Amino acid sequence: MKIPASALPILLLSAAIPSAMLNAQQPAAPHLEKRGTATQLIVDGKPFLILGGELHNSSSSSLEYMKPIWPKLTTLGLNAVVTPLSWELIESKEGSYDFTLVDGLLGQARDAHQRIVFLWLASWKNGMSSYAPVWVKQNTRRFPRVVERSNEVEILSPMSAATQEADASAFAALMQHIKQVDSEQHTVLMMQMENEVGVLDDTRDHSAAANKAFASAVPPELTAYLKAHHDALYPELRALWDENGNKTAGTWEEVFGSTARADEIFMAWHYARFIQAVTARGKAAYNIPMYANTWLMGDDARPGDYPSGCPEPRVMDIWKAAGTAIDFYAPDLYAENFEQWSQRYHRDGNPLFMPETRGGAVGAANVFYALGQEAGFGFSPFGIEDETDGKSELTASYNLLASFAPLLAERQAAGAVHGFVLGKFRSSADFVMNGYTVHVTLDELFGDHASSGFGLIMATGPDEFIGAGKGFRVTFEPRSSSARQVGIAAVDEGVFVDGKWIPGRRLNGDENDQGKGWRFDSRQVTVEKVTLYRFE
Ligand code: DGJ
Repeated sequence: MKIPASALPILLLSAAIPSAMLNAQQPAAPHLEKRGTATQLIVDGKPFLILGGELHNSSSSSLEYMKPIWPKLTTLGLNAVVTPLSWELIESKEGSYDFTLVDGLLGQARDAHQRIVFLWLASWKNGMSSYAPVWVKQNTRRFPRVVERSNEVEILSPMSAATQEADASAFAALMQHIKQVDSEQHTVLMMQMENEVGVLDDTRDHSAAANKAFASAVPPELTAYLKAHHDALYPELRALWDENGNKTAGTWEEVFGSTARADEIFMAWHYARFIQAVTARGKAAYNIPMYANTWLMGDDARPGDYPSGCPEPRVMDIWKAAGTAIDFYAPDLYAENFEQWSQRYHRDGNPLFMPETRGGAVGAANVFYALGQEAGFGFSPFGIEDETDGKSELTASYNLLASFAPLLAERQAAGAVHGFVLGKFRSSADFVMNGYTVHVTLDELFGDHASSGFGLIMATGPDEFIGAGKGFRVTFEPRSSSARQVGIAAVDEGVFVDGKWIPGRRLNGDENDQGKGWRFDSRQVTVEKVTLYRFE
């Protein structure tokens, strides 16, 4: 082959460029990255905090229906929407894929400057199989159902290799298509695998295949995982395995006991094997973060009251033992004990993202806890299109958080953020930060007491903190014995414009209780900076 002389310098130059540099020029797909103490969603090289919302189940099945929703999402202050994409709508005829809806949603999202997290509603949605294509639903011999009390129910059995193959083939085709149309723009941030899977109304599948597997030995990969990770297992699972003698061989009941817990662990393993395999097929086509969500169990609930096998904290290790394709597990968190459930999911390397939660005033507060205290990378109230435009408290929180999101992500990575929600469940929060013990209480001034408050505090300099939120006040105690006292040098309100702090009023009067406390009044969310001084 003859190479024209004019091309030689270019060829020589490119030969000298290390391949890592050439790759660096291609935009990396959205991915999770451990930065400092936080696991963050990295999009186009930067941490992306999802200030999102999940649409009602059927909204994104129609491009026409979505038209007025997109501008509303932007007005609400969202930067991403979490929304279903169902198997039946892309493969209504076996082997024939139609991605018109996907392309339409991507186009609409781009026009509205929104990103998307798609929910792959395929074999299961809320335990049931209502989103599988009719050709799957009809063919119960090829795609067998879960059996409960001798009846087949409309839940595809996770024991079926044929169902797994059909789901995986469709998902791989979808991810291949998303790669083709989105690997430059990264409108699609992540994929949720199925939705709240598990057997409902019974503790496990009683089909012939399931009964046979249940009476057989627990797979050695599972017991090997339990042994290797014993000390880090979720305490409830560890206690169960300990009580049953830490057996590494035996049937499910021999290893986990003859209770509904063994049934739940058995189902968790089989759903996880299936979904890990489907996820791996999708990732082989286009590798972006993929996660599974959870219908959280109630305190005294029995498996089957909630989907048995869903990645509840107490069986999350079973899901991890079944494969590594799923990047993380997420709670659909409507429960009132928000802090506790958040902590149960933000543990042992699992980062916190909430695909479904409460919006309105409750969500407006909780987002500060999730992103502030638990280093969460995303928050997404369900039924977001119902949120009231313009005056929504959620919007006020989102707009404020968006104004300093890069700083927040950077402080999350440094482990220098705390968040809190004060009110019915707790009236104060204490933490250690930057050489100080920080006391946060509900705000009060001249006998007026706030009944609720929320916010977060970031350490931004040796004696400097930035806080955001409303209805709380903060005092500081130095931890070093050499400087016993601390005073407030100044409190400034301010705003972030293009990431730069622009100070506003100096607040050294009633607004900081004449130097007695750093206050955030209850009327609206604000951002303020405090500078401290120490003295003997
Ligand atoms: C949880 C499910 O995941 C959603 O799809 C939806 O059904 C909501 N519940 C309804 O509250």
